[in-house]
Amino acid sequence: NIIDLDKAPEIINFYGRTDELSTLSKWIVSDRFRVISLLGISGIGKTTLSLKLIQQIKTNFNYIIYRTLRFSPTLTTTLTNLLEIFAPETETSDNIETLLSQLQKYLEKYRCCIIFDDVHKLFAPGKLSGQYKSGYEDYRDFFQLLVTVSHQSCLLLISREKIPEITKLETENYPVQTLILGSLGAAANEICQKHQLVDRESWEKLINNYQGNPRWLDIVATTIQELFSGQVAEFLEYETLILPEALQAELEQQLQHLSPVEIRVMEQIANQNQPISMGEIIRKSELSIQESVNVIQSLKKRLLLDGQLENNLTVFTLNPVWKEYLKNKL
Ligand SMILES: Nc1ncnc2c1ncn2[C@@H]1O[C@H](COP(=O)(O)OP(=O)(O)O)[C@@H](O)[C@H]1O
Ligand SMILES: [Mg+2]
Repeated sequence: NIIDLDKAPEIINFYGRTDELSTLSKWIVSDRFRVISLLGISGIGKTTLSLKLIQQIKTNFNYIIYRTLRFSPTLTTTLTNLLEIFAPETETSDNIETLLSQLQKYLEKYRCCIIFDDVHKLFAPGKLSGQYKSGYEDYRDFFQLLVTVSHQSCLLLISREKIPEITKLETENYPVQTLILGSLGAAANEICQKHQLVDRESWEKLINNYQGNPRWLDIVATTIQELFSGQVAEFLEYETLILPEALQAELEQQLQHLSPVEIRVMEQIANQNQPISMGEIIRKSELSIQESVNVIQSLKKRLLLDGQLENNLTVFTLNPVWKEYLKNKL
């Protein structure tokens, strides 16, 4: 079988994620879902998990292909690139429909697993979630096609944001599944270990404070090692969540991709001590009901905002690390 990983990073450390790995391989290998989306905020470990997954499932496929959409290739470029793997010799067309039919034939003939990473890069910055950049709308039809036509392959879409077509087809009972990746959990202890932190009894609190996000924990552990001689308890003594510069830079970069109205609402929520209801958001933001609904839905699709039921009222909370960042920014 052929494994073509192109620009995939090499995985050096891999901790935990046993449940996620078995869920994904079940969906892909036994249940044969045609399209699977793997979602999660930046740094939570989506890319790493997908590459580990390849090692587990590779014997079940004729082709395993990993491609990042980080540099926003057009659909024509992506399809041409894929077709070259199946038939290096053939002339490629510049007609999307021809390219799609050619690819479809290979996906029927062979069992392929195609991983598209960084799918969120197809969406326009400065707008609400899930709106394709101009010139990239045809990806929508491509994703939809791979769900709705019959073939024996699997497309794994990795994204920081929900992909609108996939959400829609999921509710229509097509063979589609979504896994939202959360905290690394107890396996994050190994990150503390790797950075030679001490005060083991405080590690759990540290991991929870930073949402079990391996990238955030890596940054924080580096700071604890540098400035607190690895003493986690001392680092946790302060009232506020400490956000090292590298972590702030990460968040700032993502903030730049949001729409101005989302940033405004996030800042307002960040300044609340309690979870906030839809009604309060509308009052505080002075947006119309329509606008507020759109913004809240968008932030939820980006997994930045979480809604819970409290005394029969849905209330929203911001990711705590984001909350701290936005509070300090004002
Ligand atoms: N299961 C894991 N075990 C160890 N390190 C991990 C794990 N998952 C992620 N990491 C580390 O965390 C960082 C972010 O992971 P990555 O997969 O790039 O996240 P994402 O793709 O969700 O943004 C990387 O440095 C990676 O090595
Ligand atoms: Mg990634």
